[in-house]
Amino acid sequence: MLNAGKFNLVLFIVVLVTVGLFGSSIFTIAGQAQEKDELEIFSWWAGWEAPALNALINLYEQKYPDVKVINAAVAGGAGIHAKAVLKTRILGGYPPDTFQVHAGQELIGTWVKANRMEDLTRLYKEEDWLEEVFPQKLIDLLSTKEGIWSVPLTIHRSNIMWYIPDNLKKWGVEPPGTWDEFLNETAPKLEEQGIIPLAMGINWTAQHLWESVGLAVLGPDKWEALWSGELNWTSPEAVKVWEVFDKILEYTPENAPSLSSQDAASLVSNGKAGFYITGDWQAGYMVITQKLKPKEDFDWVPSPGTKGVFMIVCDSFGLPKGAPHRENNIKFLKLVGSKEGSDIFNPPKGSISPRLDSDLSKYGAYQRSAIKDWRENRIVGSLVHGVVGNEGFMNDFATVIETFLFNRNPDQVVRACQALAIEYGIIE
Ligand code: GAL
Repeated sequence: MLNAGKFNLVLFIVVLVTVGLFGSSIFTIAGQAQEKDELEIFSWWAGWEAPALNALINLYEQKYPDVKVINAAVAGGAGIHAKAVLKTRILGGYPPDTFQVHAGQELIGTWVKANRMEDLTRLYKEEDWLEEVFPQKLIDLLSTKEGIWSVPLTIHRSNIMWYIPDNLKKWGVEPPGTWDEFLNETAPKLEEQGIIPLAMGINWTAQHLWESVGLAVLGPDKWEALWSGELNWTSPEAVKVWEVFDKILEYTPENAPSLSSQDAASLVSNGKAGFYITGDWQAGYMVITQKLKPKEDFDWVPSPGTKGVFMIVCDSFGLPKGAPHRENNIKFLKLVGSKEGSDIFNPPKGSISPRLDSDLSKYGAYQRSAIKDWRENRIVGSLVHGVVGNEGFMNDFATVIETFLFNRNPDQVVRACQALAIEYGIIE
């Protein structure tokens, strides 16, 4: 007979042996799962933003049938949820194989500065990307003196105002060329007819509107001066941006904080609002998802006061240090930078290809107009989509906007922004 003490000892040994025999194989299986040929792509292109990414993934899978692609997209426009998940993963030491990151400060001032990315200069040389494939102004946004840190996939434009031409005719208004015209003529006329003059939604869409207003009020030189630290946020010009923004907010939906970007856009397509200012992913959505015809069913102009200026947003992919499937990602990055990959992704996305040799016949009417502007316009960077501010600044700026939406106090807000600009090294 076993007494209780001996029974417990036997049980303990049995458990140890079981874990030893099977547990180790469980761990081995888990280990093997990690070693399996996979590629994890992290982005925020889910839901209505998914078609272009799916097309690129299909192309990758056709070329590399042995690699299983894990599409780790976290939904939420402008990466509002994805970026928080990404941060936890990178800081926690389990980065995805590759992730969507905006060219400019979101890449350079955040992940490169934190020494989390591998230099891709060799890849650029091997693929011949340095000689007249990507414009130099774009490579500059992806580089430091030490290297080139990601591969560009899209060129989006932030400062676009969308509308339905038939509705404008019905309401007797034209797309306004300036904010004065909007505030003094267009908006009151729409409001009289029970139409919301300007659609807007949750926080990031308010920031998006703000940057178009900022560009219009400051003009491109001073917009850039704000980000190089040469123009103070407390200067009269910068205060004016918030004063104009304040007036414009009067004409946006009262329930804006409860509207996603797509809800805000739908106010325009459903004839409840006159205009919406958002990036040209909107063209992808209207053509691919809503099956609308550019120029007939929907139309666009540069946001008021920004004609001749192209506020750039560029999505890119890089190679984080410690990526588990490095080689599979390098194959992916080659596809991202290739003409074939770029011309399969960008047409349904609403963006244009960063490559100078892209096949224009694959692009729709909106994109053909964007390509022309991209070549001819003055180029400046977006804030909310990562070009001019790093992650830290952007996160805090979201809070600043939230506060402004409640207290609408320009003097207070510029002091907060000035403090942030100092904290994040924009102003020395
Ligand atoms: C931007 C991104 C675009 C699009 C947009 C809306 O930040 O660069 O590709 O995804 O957000 O979510």
